Amino acid sequence: MTDFPGRQNKAVWLDEKSNVINAHGGGILSFDGGYYWYGEHKTEGWEGRLAFLGVHAYYSTDLIHWHDLGIVLKVTDDPGSPICRGCRIERPKVLHCPATGKFVMYFHSTDADHTLARRGLAVADSPQGPFHFLGAKRANAGKWPANAPVCDASLIPPEAEFVNGENDKTRRYPIYARDVAGGQMCRDMNLFVDDDGTAYHIYSSEHNSTLHIARLTPDFLDWDGYWFRVLPYAWNEGAALFKRNGWYFLLMSGCTGWNPNAARGAAAQNLAGPWFEFGNPARGDGAETTFGAQSSAVFSVGERYFAMLDCWNPENFIDSRYLWLELQFPSDDRFEMWNTPYFSLTPSEIT
Ligand code: GAL
Repeated sequence: MTDFPGRQNKAVWLDEKSNVINAHGGGILSFDGGYYWYGEHKTEGWEGRLAFLGVHAYYSTDLIHWHDLGIVLKVTDDPGSPICRGCRIERPKVLHCPATGKFVMYFHSTDADHTLARRGLAVADSPQGPFHFLGAKRANAGKWPANAPVCDASLIPPEAEFVNGENDKTRRYPIYARDVAGGQMCRDMNLFVDDDGTAYHIYSSEHNSTLHIARLTPDFLDWDGYWFRVLPYAWNEGAALFKRNGWYFLLMSGCTGWNPNAARGAAAQNLAGPWFEFGNPARGDGAETTFGAQSSAVFSVGERYFAMLDCWNPENFIDSRYLWLELQFPSDDRFEMWNTPYFSLTPSEIT
């Protein structure tokens, strides 16, 4: 417990039992008057990037004091399972599905070498878990994007011939066309529910060159086949999608692995675009590296919006820190993100 009605950004954050909060690359589910924070449980050292336990969850009524719910999606000891101990489980996000009453978790499911680029899926009857793993696969196999042409993929090299960071080679090919057969790569990911209750999955795809937004079925357990490409070859990761006053926004990072880079912002009046990029929304000292952090999610409390960012520590992943920043909206179609020493819901506490 803290006696300060806020959290000092980048300090060690403790739960109500004074244990270090371990929920990285996470997101917040607001449900039934409370908040659930799901994230990657990291362990010591460089090895700590791998999943040795699973997805960790916490519960709070004020977003400041957190009760530990434990590991709500556990790795298995079955080496054939996509969630076996030592795999990678990244950027878990959870929605409540009104049509089924279930809690649905999406995450980046991959191997230790980070090659699989699949969406892991798990469900629970309660936001406290336990979540049951339903499988991992790539998105929308057999479906063409709504906003890009059907084209011949026969001359596109196989994926092993590409790297996943920014490069010119990837830019020369319509990678999505190659991946229609086996499904689209899903790496950094997030979930979003529009005002009409329709849910969408957003993920870095095409070797991280291009974001995809894919609509989900009413039970939130699958894609429904309608998907589109967003900001092709702009190399965005850490995408968080949110909506305010009729405008859709994206907060994203560049594509430099664990190293921080300048954040990116984009706005659109339609989810399917056009999307307008407006550069780095970070403001103030350290803005050029997003204050040493990478975006993970945006959540809202009433009219206020907060970005969750991770300060990754690749030398000791368990010591990665959190940076939660309130977003400012200088106009309806822009947001800014100022470096502030505290996360607090009380405006006067933000200096
Ligand atoms: C980051 C990504 C992380 C993790 C890492 C691996 O860019 O946002 O979630 O996948 O790369 O290098």
